Amino acid sequence: MKIVKTIDEVRNIVNSWKKDGLSVALVPTMGYLHEGHKSLITRAAAENDRVVVSDFVNPTQFAPNEDFESYPRDIDADARLCEDAGAALIFNPEADEMYQDALTFIDMNKITKVLCGKTRPIHFSGVCTVVGKLFNIVKPDRAYFGQKDAQQLCVIRKMVKDLNFDVEIIGCPIIREPDGLAKSSRNTYLSAEERQAALCLSRALALGKAAVDAGERDAEKVVEIVRAEISREPLARIDYAEAVDFNTLEPVSEVKPPMLCAVAVYIGKTRLIDNFIV
Ligand code: PAF
Repeated sequence: MKIVKTIDEVRNIVNSWKKDGLSVALVPTMGYLHEGHKSLITRAAAENDRVVVSDFVNPTQFAPNEDFESYPRDIDADARLCEDAGAALIFNPEADEMYQDALTFIDMNKITKVLCGKTRPIHFSGVCTVVGKLFNIVKPDRAYFGQKDAQQLCVIRKMVKDLNFDVEIIGCPIIREPDGLAKSSRNTYLSAEERQAALCLSRALALGKAAVDAGERDAEKVVEIVRAEISREPLARIDYAEAVDFNTLEPVSEVKPPMLCAVAVYIGKTRLIDNFIV
């Protein structure tokens, strides 16, 4: 497995694979990889001949008050995980390689302005721009994204459709710790007490899901169950808890597929997200 830092190197390697008729997958990441990323890479390796993992903390998706500087980084550990999971190449560029002199950014209406977009107004423009650039650099046949970032998955699918990117988007299930907490690079920010408190997200969503499985069809009642459970945790502050259509991200009143029940919750200063999909 190779680690490269330039767009030219990625293009040369991928072109030689394509000449040999090999299929290519992309797993976009911001590094500090965990079991959730590993599941994406393993699946990509099972379904494609070659896997490229991009490992880039993308500055354009962070607002000035967010955690770009402190976002955890460990390229050596990432390389070991990628190798184990079957990746062929890591693309680990510097910000200048990706953005030198850039004046062009991808923007999207409506579905980027709700849920996480309300508190992170520039976030999805940064995500779309970097993912669009990665699609143009790697030209993957398939790209793999985790369902934990459900809004991101929905936004990327829409961008691919709207801008006619020739890539298949594969959404993969949330990977959890044994006690239910969704795996996230940001979990490392939590103190021991906060780590315990953070379980309120998965516990609340499990209660909401159980109500749906038991036949509840009123989406607002499901959201109320979720909110009530999170509110019992003193260290938790709800940013949002909503039930929306998973394609349009518009609020729904009735529980029916494809419904996304999503939460964002501050545990101390750390903002965590989680969800379930009907
Ligand atoms: O999900 C992430 O880690 C990032 O938003 C992504 C898709 C790698 C873009 O920087």
